[in-house]
Amino acid sequence: MNSLDERSRSCWMSETEIAHDGTLKNDVACDVVIIGSGIAGLSTAYELVQRGKSVVVIDRGAIGGGMTARTTSHLASALDDYYSELVKVHGEDSARSYFRSQAAAIDRIEAICAAENADADFARVDGYLFPAHPDDEADLEEEFACCAQLGIPVSWEDSAPIAAFDTGRTIRFADQARIHPGRYLAALARAVRHGGGHLFPDTAYVGDEETDGKVEIETEAGFRIHAAAAVFATNSPVNDRVAIHTKQTPMRSYAIAGAVPAGSVTDALYWDTLEAYHYVRLQPLGNDRDLLIVGGEDHRTGEADDMNERFDALERWTRERFPAFGEPQYRWSGQVLEPIDFMPFSGRNPGNDNIYIHSGDSGQGITNGVAGALTIAALISGEPAPFAALFEPSRKPVTSRPSLANFIEGQLGAAKNFAEYLGPGEVASEDDLSPGEGAIIRKGLHKLAVYRGEDGTLSQRSAVCTHAGCLVHWNSLEMCWDCPCHGSQFAPDGAVLNGPATRPLAAADPD
Ligand code: FES
Repeated sequence: MNSLDERSRSCWMSETEIAHDGTLKNDVACDVVIIGSGIAGLSTAYELVQRGKSVVVIDRGAIGGGMTARTTSHLASALDDYYSELVKVHGEDSARSYFRSQAAAIDRIEAICAAENADADFARVDGYLFPAHPDDEADLEEEFACCAQLGIPVSWEDSAPIAAFDTGRTIRFADQARIHPGRYLAALARAVRHGGGHLFPDTAYVGDEETDGKVEIETEAGFRIHAAAAVFATNSPVNDRVAIHTKQTPMRSYAIAGAVPAGSVTDALYWDTLEAYHYVRLQPLGNDRDLLIVGGEDHRTGEADDMNERFDALERWTRERFPAFGEPQYRWSGQVLEPIDFMPFSGRNPGNDNIYIHSGDSGQGITNGVAGALTIAALISGEPAPFAALFEPSRKPVTSRPSLANFIEGQLGAAKNFAEYLGPGEVASEDDLSPGEGAIIRKGLHKLAVYRGEDGTLSQRSAVCTHAGCLVHWNSLEMCWDCPCHGSQFAPDGAVLNGPATRPLAAADPD
C-alpha cells in the first residue's frame, strides 16, 4: 500500500497504467536499488539505465502511486518561495544556479518526452504570478527586481490573461511547462524496463546496511537486494530518523479539477501571492472541454480536519476568477515537504558513502525531482554534478526571517504534538464514533487511534507514530492517520501508506 490507497482520487490516477515486474519474490543484485517510484525515483532509474547501470526500483505500493500522482505538475522555473527570499538565504550565485536547475529539469522532461514518444501532454506555457491583495504589489516589485538581477526572463503584464478577472499587475515568467504526471511516469517506467531495469510494486523497504562499499536493502517480505548503491526517493526519507527531518516540514495541499469550455482559459500556469498560495493550470481533455485544476489551502500535515471547508473555499475562489468552471469532478489532497531553506535535499545521505536521498521538494515537486535525479545519477556515475553543492543533504540550514519563522512554527508543532500525550482523547469512547469515523481515544496512560469501519467493526491501534513517537491525527478526507511531525501516513488499520515510518501502528496496548 502507498498513498494511492488513500481515499481521494486525483485527475491523473484513473489514466495511469504502469507496467511492472510484480512483487519481489527472491533476493536480487543490481548496480543501484531505488526505493520509491515517483518522479524522483523513476527519473533517477531512467538516468542510470541510460548510463548502462542495472537498476531495481521498489515501492511499498503501486508503481507511480505515491505523492507524484497527487501533484498538479506545474513545471516551473519560477520559485514558489520567491527568488528574493532565496537570495537572502543562499546568495545570488546559488539562486542563479537554482534557477538553472529548474530550467534544466524542464528541458530534460521535454527531451525525454521526445526521445520516448511519451504521450504525456507536455507543453511549454507562460507562468503568471499575481497579487492576492493590492498590498502584495511591493512583494512582486521585489521579486521582479531580483529575477531581473539574476537574469531570469520576466516581464510585467497589466493583468494575468484571465478573461473575467483583472488580477492587477502581474509578473510573467517565460518558458514554464505542464505535463500529465501519470503518463510521464508510465513512459519513464517503460524505458527503464526496456533498458533492463526492474520495477517491483508492493515491496516495502524495512531496513538497510552499508558495508565494504556495498548496500543491502531488506524488504518487508524478508528478501534482500544487494547493490553498489541505494537511492531513497520517498516523499519523506524512510531511512532517516533525524538528519533531514529536522530541516523540513510536511504540508497537506488540496486541489480541485473541473471542466471549462476548450480554449476559454489561456493555457498557462497561474499563482497568487498568498502564503498558502493558489495554483492553477489547464489539462486538455482532447474534446470540447479542458480540465481546470486549482490548488491551495495548505496546512501542516495532521493539523486540520476541515477539508470540506477548504474545498468550498477553493471552489469559491475559482468561480470568482473562472466563472465557466463547472462542478468539480475531482477533489484530492497531497503532501509536500517544505525545506527550511527553500532548497531540496538531493545527494549522499549524511553519514553514508553509497546511499543517496532525494526529498524536500517544496511546491516544485516535478522539477526538483528531475533536477535531483540528474544530480544523483551523476554522483553515482562519478560525473560532474553541477547542482550537487546546492542540494547537498548535509548542509547546515541557513535561514531568512520568513523561513526561520516557518521553521520555528514547524518545531512548535512538534512540541505541541508531544504535549498531547498528557491531554484527553478527542472523543470519550469508541461509542462516540459513527461508521467511517476515526479519532484518538485515551485508555489509561495510552492514546489509541480508533477507527469504526462502515460495517461497524472497530480497529484499535496505538496512536504513537512508529517513526519517532509523535501522535497521529485522523484525516477524514483521506481516511487515514496523518503524523504531523514528519509526514507519515497510516491506513485506518495502522498499515503504513507513506513514510518515513516503515512499521505499522502498534497493536493497542491492553490496559
Ligand atoms: Fe516522524 Fe511520525 S513521521 S514521528
